[in-house]
Amino acid sequence: MKLEMALATALVLAVVSWTQEFFPKEAHTLNWGKFSGFWYIIAIATDTQGFLPAKDKRKLGASVVKVHKTGQLKVVIAFSRPKGCQSMETILKKDRKKPVFRNTLKGIKGFHVLSTDYTYGLVYLRLGRAGNNYKSLLLFNRQNISSFLSLREFLDTCHILQLTNQATILPKDDSCAHTILP
Ligand SMILES: *[C@@H]1O[C@H](CO)[C@@H](O)[C@H](O)[C@H]1NC(C)=O
Repeated sequence: MKLEMALATALVLAVVSWTQEFFPKEAHTLNWGKFSGFWYIIAIATDTQGFLPAKDKRKLGASVVKVHKTGQLKVVIAFSRPKGCQSMETILKKDRKKPVFRNTLKGIKGFHVLSTDYTYGLVYLRLGRAGNNYKSLLLFNRQNISSFLSLREFLDTCHILQLTNQATILPKDDSCAHTILP
């Protein structure tokens, strides 16, 4: 019991210091122009109940990211949901002080790129309104497949975010993703 408590505490501390240490880097090192464009969403882990459809209806998602104005991003996301393929477009604004893009009116508390080499990207989305908080981790790839290493990084990050049980690698059906091809 004691050991479990110690482990749980260590994990919480690790997550806190990880989020504090990791996110500030993003603003300084990420080239949003290079990150722009079309992405497939290869895998998702989310604690949002009812976000994903039944197993046989799952498909690759997609996102188109564009630099809108200075400090603003236009993000379109298409995803196969329980009611079918849906897409949503949002303008995200960069926080004045913190290295995060958000649109709290639309329920997007944070859009963080945790890591990328511009062929793949690990995107952490914090969603919810007021006191409700949901988190999702998305694995972006320029192509409809992903490398073993990026998948490995996705799963390791799911573990840190405590989303391992919700991690889903999406079936390679691009019919929903291609609805937002630029
Ligand atoms: C993945 O993309 C390639 C080339 O872009 C295409 O030829 C292939 O059919 C796609 N695979 C699936 C399963 O959609």
